Amino acid sequence: MYYSRIIGSGSSLPERRLTNFDLEKMVDTSDAWIMERTGISSRHIVTDESSADLASEAAKEAIVNADIDPKLIDLIIVATCTPERLLPNTGCLVQNALGIRGCPAFDLNAACSGFIYALSVADQYISRGLYKHILTVGTDTLSKIVNWEDRTTCVLFGDGAGAIVLRADHTPGILGTHLYSDAANRDVLYATKTHADTSPIIKMRGRELFKVAVNTLEKLAIDTLDKHGFKHDDLDWLVPHQANLRIIKAAAKRLKLPLDRVIQTVQKHGNTSAASLPLALHDGIQSGKVKQNELVMLEVFGAGLTWGSALLRY
Ligand code: UT7
Repeated sequence: MYYSRIIGSGSSLPERRLTNFDLEKMVDTSDAWIMERTGISSRHIVTDESSADLASEAAKEAIVNADIDPKLIDLIIVATCTPERLLPNTGCLVQNALGIRGCPAFDLNAACSGFIYALSVADQYISRGLYKHILTVGTDTLSKIVNWEDRTTCVLFGDGAGAIVLRADHTPGILGTHLYSDAANRDVLYATKTHADTSPIIKMRGRELFKVAVNTLEKLAIDTLDKHGFKHDDLDWLVPHQANLRIIKAAAKRLKLPLDRVIQTVQKHGNTSAASLPLALHDGIQSGKVKQNELVMLEVFGAGLTWGSALLRY
């Protein structure tokens, strides 16, 4: 039996920063409204970079921080719902950017929850002893499918990528991952192509989704701790999906966790979809907050609806 341990993390954010004040000039909104309702103050938006470009940069940094030769990577999994190309998959483009050949590479789409799904798949391969090093990436450029005239959605999202390298080890590691989907709310948040020549555009019923998200995440966090026999005060860090500061605060309150043990990046990244969790995790690691062997819970929800959690020792 092997455990998956995180041995390196990385991130990539587009250079262009879009503040709430910039958005005030684009749609009928205000910094005060966005801050009060979401906690977001700015986000990064691509100019001509793709999800694959961001993923490749994040992957390179994660591999450098893992201090391994890229050739040791046995598998690449990229979570994204905004791939650069329909085919080949983003994983193959990342593999090419890393200058390696031969290892399997594929994409997975579970919207914002994609990174937890990818982590779960990677963990199965490692725990069964099939692969030793797995590169797991979350990347999205939702700015490309946002309607920039719709104030109810365009203020929420940002672009970015986060990556981790997992290594098989005899000490934990990932203790468990828990995945869920329920399509009853499939129309609460979605993007479809309406015409062959147009891009998909995000549509969201925010207020409805807000309630579902708060209830789902509260239950998810408690259930995850219960399943592994931990209590709320055993948890060193909560790394929640970075969609809305009010949702994050509600989840922390339910867990009786002070906010200084909750990694928060939504203020400067907005909601970066599949990149949200790995960006936040990398931020926690880079800032020196998350330390070796500490107990960390990742939790997320997104379109589908999909949701899930991972409990791990860093
Ligand atoms: O990964 C999953 C992604 N999605 C989410 O996590 C979204 C979850 N939902 C939310 O985060 C919140 O529901 C929002 C931030 C989207 C909205 O906050 P809210 O407190 O639920 O506001 P609301 O939708 O109830 O809208 C309140 C008012 C409305 O005006 P009226 O009807 O009261 O006159 C909206 O038209 O705020 C208006 N509004 C805005 N005003 C200024 C909506 N968007 C904006 C805006 N600027 N950008």
